[in-house]
Amino acid sequence: KILILDFGSQYTQLIARRLREKHVYCEIHPFNTPIEKIKEFAPKGIILSGGPASVYADGSPKVGMEIFELDVPVLGICYGMQLITYLFGGEVVRAERHEYGRAELFVLDSNDLFKGLPEEFTVWMSHGDRVLRIPEGFEPIAETENAPYAAIRNREKSIYGVQFHPEVKHTQFGDKILENFAVEICGCEPSWTMENFIEYEIDKIRKTVGNKNVICALSGGVDSSVVAALLHKAIGDQLYPIFVDTGLLRKGERESVEKTFKEKFHMKNFRTVDASSLFLERLKGVVDPEKKRKIIGHTFIEVFEKAAKEIPDAEFLAQGTLYPDVIESVSVKGPSATIKSHHNVGGLPERLNFKLIEPLRELFKDEVRELGKELGLPDEIIKRQPFPGPGLAIRIIDEVKPEYLEILREADAIVLEEIKKARLYDKIWQSFAVFLPVKSVGVMGDVRTYDYVIAIRAVESVDGMTADWVKLPYELLERISNRIINEVEGVNRVVYDITSKPPGTIEWE
Ligand code: XMP
Repeated sequence: KILILDFGSQYTQLIARRLREKHVYCEIHPFNTPIEKIKEFAPKGIILSGGPASVYADGSPKVGMEIFELDVPVLGICYGMQLITYLFGGEVVRAERHEYGRAELFVLDSNDLFKGLPEEFTVWMSHGDRVLRIPEGFEPIAETENAPYAAIRNREKSIYGVQFHPEVKHTQFGDKILENFAVEICGCEPSWTMENFIEYEIDKIRKTVGNKNVICALSGGVDSSVVAALLHKAIGDQLYPIFVDTGLLRKGERESVEKTFKEKFHMKNFRTVDASSLFLERLKGVVDPEKKRKIIGHTFIEVFEKAAKEIPDAEFLAQGTLYPDVIESVSVKGPSATIKSHHNVGGLPERLNFKLIEPLRELFKDEVRELGKELGLPDEIIKRQPFPGPGLAIRIIDEVKPEYLEILREADAIVLEEIKKARLYDKIWQSFAVFLPVKSVGVMGDVRTYDYVIAIRAVESVDGMTADWVKLPYELLERISNRIINEVEGVNRVVYDITSKPPGTIEWE
C-alpha cells in the first residue's frame, strides 16, 4: 500500500482515486503524521502531495528527513517535488510567470516512472514556484519548454519528483505514471478489488460483532443501503435495520425501501417506524429553514434511539461514513461559515452509546456504488440522486402542512417520472419539485383559478458544492408543466429555477 502525505492540495484526493482505479490500495494522511505512525502503516511507497504553500514561506508545511530513510521510494508532486528539492539542498524560486494549464512534456528517460509512455505528451501544470537547481544526486528525467526540471529522480535513493499533476485527468497517462510508481517502482500488488474488499470486510465485521446484534438507520439512500446490504451478507439476521418514516418522504419511497430490503434481501429484522405524525406535529408553525432542520434532526435521533432500545443485545451501530468524511484534511482556508446545518441520517450522536461499525470508511462514493452493485442492490438505489435528510420539509417554503406535502409529493413524482422517461435521470445530479405557498391567478376551461406554484429544479454537479442548472429540453419542461397542472389539484402554475450555485443553493431552504 501507498501512503499519501497531504500538503493541502485541492487534488490530493484525486491521487488516491487514480491509484485505486489501478487497484493499488492507498491512504491519505496529513503531512505532519508522526514518523512512528508512518512506520506502523508500513507503506511500500510514499507520495508527497501538492499544496498551496511556498517552501520558503514561514511555517510552510514540511516533513523531516526520516521520511527518506524508511527505505521506500518517495514521489513528490508539485509542492512535494519542491519540498524534496529544498530538503536536499537544491534551489526553488518564485517563477516569473505562474504556470497554469497545459504543457508539452518531453521524456528524457523512460526506464521507470515513464515506462511504456510516449516520448512526448500533455501534462497539467499548476504552480507558482519552480525548481531552479536540482540537488546533488538528482537528474532530470523529463522537461517542458518552460521547465527543464519537469520531473527529477535520485536513482540511488529512489526519490522522484514531478512538477506537473499526474492525478488530474488533463494530464495524459497520469494514471499510468502513478501506477508505474506504485507497481513498478514500489512493488505494490495491484490487488485492491471490490471482491477482495467484500471478503476482507465481511471477515472483519464477523470478528468484531461476534454474537451481538447490530442496528443501522436505513434511509434507502446509497450509503446506508450499501452498509445494510454488506452487514446482512456478513451477519444475516443479527442486523436490525431501522427505517424511520418521517412523513417527509417522497411518493412511494417507504414502500419501495420496504420491498427492496424486506422482500428482496430478506432482512427479517427490518423495521419501519412510522413517526410521521410526530414530525408533522413538531414542525407545525415552523417557517425558519434552520429551525426545521434542527427539529427534524433532534426528532430523528429521539425516534431512532427509542426504536434501538427495543432491540435485544444491540451493541453496535453501523454507519455509512465515507472516506472523504474521514480524511483529516489539511485546512488552508480556515473554518468556513455555516451556510446550512446539514442533517443527515448517517450522523448519529455518540451519546447513543453504541460501538460504531463503519465499513465504508475507506471508500469513495463511486467505490460505494460499485460495492452496492457487487452486493446486488438494484440500480434504483445505486444510481439514486441525493435526497436531503430533512426531506420534503426543506422543499416546502413556509410551514410544512399536510396539504402542501400532498401537493409536492404528486408534483415531484411527475418531475422524476418524466426525467426518467427522457433518460436524463442518471445524467443529472438532482431533479425535483419545490412547493411555493404563493397563489396566483389562472384560467382552466372557462373557470378562474387561484392556486399554488410549483418550481422545478434540476442541477448538474460533481459534488454538490457547486452546481449549474440543467438546460432541460423545452418539450420536456412543457410536458412536466402540463402534467403537473392537469394532474395535481391545487397547482395552476409551474416555473423553472434557472439559478446556479453559487449564488443560489441547490435546495431552496
Ligand atoms: P445545498 O442546498 O446546500 O445542497 O446547495 C447541497 C447538497 O446537500 C443536500 N442537502 C442536504 N443533505 N441534509 C442532507 O442530508 C440536509 O440538511 C441537506 N441540505 C441540503 C442537497 O440536496 C444537495 O445535494
